Amino acid sequence: MELRNLPGLLLFSVLILGSTLLSTSEKPVGYEVYEGKEQITTNTPVRITPLRHPEKVDSVLALMTLEEKVGQLNLLSSGFAETGPTLSEEYREMIGEAKLGGVFNAHTVEHTLDLQRIAVEETRLGIPLLFAFDVIHGHRTIFPVPLAEASTWDPDLIKKASRIAAKESAAAGLHWTFTPMLDVSPDPRWGRIVESSGEDPLLNKRFGVARIEGFQGDDLYELDTIMATAKHFAAYGAAEAGRDYNTVDISERTLREIHLPAFKAAVDADVRTFMTAFNEYDGVPATGSDYLFNKILRDDWGFDGFVITDYTAIMEMIPHGYARDEAHAGELALNANVDMDMMSNIFLNELPGLVESGRVSEEQVDMAVSRILDMKFELGLFDDPYRYSDYDREAETIMRQDFLDFALEVAEKSIVLLKNENNLLPLSDSAKNIAIIGPLGDNQYDVMGSWSAAGESSDNVSLLAGLRNAVPEGTNIQFSEGVPLSLDDHSADGIDEAVNLAAESDVVILALGEGRHMSGEAASRTTLNLPGAQQDLLEAVHATGTPVVMVLMAGRPLDINWANENVGAIVNAFYLGTRTGDAIASVLYGNHNPSGKLTFSWPYTVGQIPNVYYQKKTGRPIDPDQRYTSKFIDAPNDPLFPFGYGLSYTSFDYSNLTLSETEISRDGHLTISVDVTNSGDFAGHEIVQLYTRKMVASVTQPVRLLRDFEKIFLEPGETKTVEFTLNASQLTYLDQQLNPVLEPGIVKVFVGPNVSETMENELEIIQ
Ligand code: BGC
Repeated sequence: MELRNLPGLLLFSVLILGSTLLSTSEKPVGYEVYEGKEQITTNTPVRITPLRHPEKVDSVLALMTLEEKVGQLNLLSSGFAETGPTLSEEYREMIGEAKLGGVFNAHTVEHTLDLQRIAVEETRLGIPLLFAFDVIHGHRTIFPVPLAEASTWDPDLIKKASRIAAKESAAAGLHWTFTPMLDVSPDPRWGRIVESSGEDPLLNKRFGVARIEGFQGDDLYELDTIMATAKHFAAYGAAEAGRDYNTVDISERTLREIHLPAFKAAVDADVRTFMTAFNEYDGVPATGSDYLFNKILRDDWGFDGFVITDYTAIMEMIPHGYARDEAHAGELALNANVDMDMMSNIFLNELPGLVESGRVSEEQVDMAVSRILDMKFELGLFDDPYRYSDYDREAETIMRQDFLDFALEVAEKSIVLLKNENNLLPLSDSAKNIAIIGPLGDNQYDVMGSWSAAGESSDNVSLLAGLRNAVPEGTNIQFSEGVPLSLDDHSADGIDEAVNLAAESDVVILALGEGRHMSGEAASRTTLNLPGAQQDLLEAVHATGTPVVMVLMAGRPLDINWANENVGAIVNAFYLGTRTGDAIASVLYGNHNPSGKLTFSWPYTVGQIPNVYYQKKTGRPIDPDQRYTSKFIDAPNDPLFPFGYGLSYTSFDYSNLTLSETEISRDGHLTISVDVTNSGDFAGHEIVQLYTRKMVASVTQPVRLLRDFEKIFLEPGETKTVEFTLNASQLTYLDQQLNPVLEPGIVKVFVGPNVSETMENELEIIQ
């Protein structure tokens, strides 16, 4: 960068930062501009956060040189070889020179023991390393992807799945996972919707906390618990156009009402680490954001764990146009109380010079180091650096039978039945010739979905294998791939074979969808079409007249309007992990009655996005007969399937929606009850959902907001009364000054099986 351009850029940064800060704190912090000089200095006060093991931490800190301290703030990645994770010679030398505080993507007892030995035996102080990994939905036993797990609407189940993942990963020598992703995902073009709990802030909060509790357990010292990470702070899911890493430009109201609640809940649940986001918020890259990290996370919420950057995110403040160079980027991040640098080596290389020049204080470095050492004490690594790496425990724990059994239960409960015309499902035993068609029909790799940690394809049960195990004797199953699983390969050569097979079969199970790398990080799409030639395959197979059950596997909702109009049954399976085929077979044959419900609005067309259910009404609500109302002229406003939607093999009737009070004060509460009856022939689960709308407020309110839910199990003919306790405090919203309020007035209450099919009643908030 040319020096003469600097003052303008600096002034620009100052203006942007200043405007953010002025609205939220008394005076700007972080920068002082000296007129006539090309210099900004940092004067952000160090946030002193409490430590859990202060004396122990101080005793280590007192021995450390500045170089050893900055080494603790550095995290680098292991590589991978055919045989498992490996570390390059260069990184091994860095461990020996005390230039790493931890290694991620390092797992297995063998590998972690090897690296820990270098840290303990070859460095002057022998400070142990932290080992981290993206254990997102299972370590070796792979559970359904987070978006699928969310469809269970069952925090206890999610917590238990996370406990199992913690047990397996801790037994593989790990101390730390980069999960849960708490980014609310209003845009399915964004590939990382697959890692999320969907579009709703309440579900995001409940399931996020369940994951944190599952991984961290009651005591981090225990050998089957590991640290969790609340990521990515903040608003990463609001990337413009759903393009990954893109600019986020949302109001502070949306930030606070939609995107922050799960992160606040994570702090309250004692999550030990936070990860920065790649994106900017209000013109400031999150990784250097005084507002997000100093003001909100440390000052307002009192977070006392440590903050890791996302992958090279400190360095990325340079291309963002926010930091001048690496030193400046390091200064901005550390002074935002971001403690550990993932992959940039910027803290390592730049902090000693920055301390010397006074641009960061050694006290700030000490605080960052202390927070990391504190966690190393918490995990017991100073008692025994090798305590997580035990060959016997690893062998006994990985892929235990009870873990595999539970993975099946979670997979079954994650499946969402979208359509079932004329009770095509469950399949009857009279279907003797079954065709499995489609690129996901006999697939063991893609079924793991995005992030599969130590998962191995050969462990996974494909749909074909699962169905073969499940069908009644005498059933003949044949498979034809039809078309490749590809976005750009449109070869249709296999369609004829697939059509011939379909024509001679009693039923077709058509397994379509995306490959696992078509969603997840850096996998944004501009359309939601079935990739490649799959739509052609679908139409050709349907034309045979053989009944078609479409099984969709993908990390996001796809455009399935044609299928919805034409095929008899649609089973949305997302990616279900190790027990994929068993779980789908169990649903297809009715051994498990599907109960999953969508945690996002399934778009009718990509042009509707974002079409979250918590929209505002507008001044011209849709009226099909009036042109000048808020609607599309070529598509409905409504999604194809609403938030909360999912079918069962039985039917549920709702009646007697009753409120214990019709008026409540602002500190009052009431009970809302509803009777739910299983009016069909199968026993099954129903997810009963409670929504509200404040009809008039000083800030307009969404047409619905989910307030609570309950999952119940009913035998045929059984009725249960579901009761929700609603505190008035749950109904607060932010006023024009962004302070929580609850103004007097009418609140409508809606209860039902999804957001669009509800019974309603109302109450009044009184002074
Ligand atoms: C992702 C993070 C992940 C990290 C480490 C990044 O690219 O955004 O979610 O934890 O890599 O693998």
